[in-house]
Amino acid sequence: MNNIGIFYGSTTGTTEDIARRIAGIWGLSETQIHDASTLTPALAESYNILILGTSTWGSGELQDDWYEGVKILKKTDLSHTSIALFGCGDSDSYADTFCDGIGILYEELKETGCQFIGMTPTDAYTFDTSIAVVDNSFVGLPLDEVNEYGKTDERLAHWVEQLKAEIS
Ligand SMILES: Cc1cc2nc3c(=O)[nH]c(=O)nc-3n(C[C@H](O)[C@H](O)[C@H](O)COP(=O)(O)O)c2cc1C
Repeated sequence: MNNIGIFYGSTTGTTEDIARRIAGIWGLSETQIHDASTLTPALAESYNILILGTSTWGSGELQDDWYEGVKILKKTDLSHTSIALFGCGDSDSYADTFCDGIGILYEELKETGCQFIGMTPTDAYTFDTSIAVVDNSFVGLPLDEVNEYGKTDERLAHWVEQLKAEIS
């Protein structure tokens, strides 16, 4: 049986809001949504599907709460865990580092043996560079609540359906 946990790192509340919207679309309960700063190995291991969200700050940096969270996840047995990454960024003002935080989580976690799900084609986005792009796809779902908030509902609905299909 799939047990899904959502963890978010969010400075001004945008990524937290998206985490709640994903839970709403999927029909997950409040208890399945966690701030990344509350992560423990036992909590992570209680889920076989982790949906991890981060915004990007500075110039292509991970959201603050994930620095410790990444260390914890690296100490966790993720060999039977599927991980879906999402992130919030600004593709206009930060076109060279658009949603780099997603790429940082991917790079940090890829040696853990987890399986990544929820890749997204880059076609529908306007940006210059992002380390979240690997083999021509984003390694998760990028969202831009600054410039493209009108596209978010559809992107989320599509992504949740994609995840459901990938884990079935
Ligand atoms: C000082 C600053 C730096 C930022 N740097 C980036 C960046 O490098 N790449 C990016 O895609 N977005 C960047 N952003 C945009 C934020 O990631 C975006 O506003 C996001 O929605 C914030 O989400 P949060 O409230 O969950 O932290 C930056 C925003 C600010 C104010």
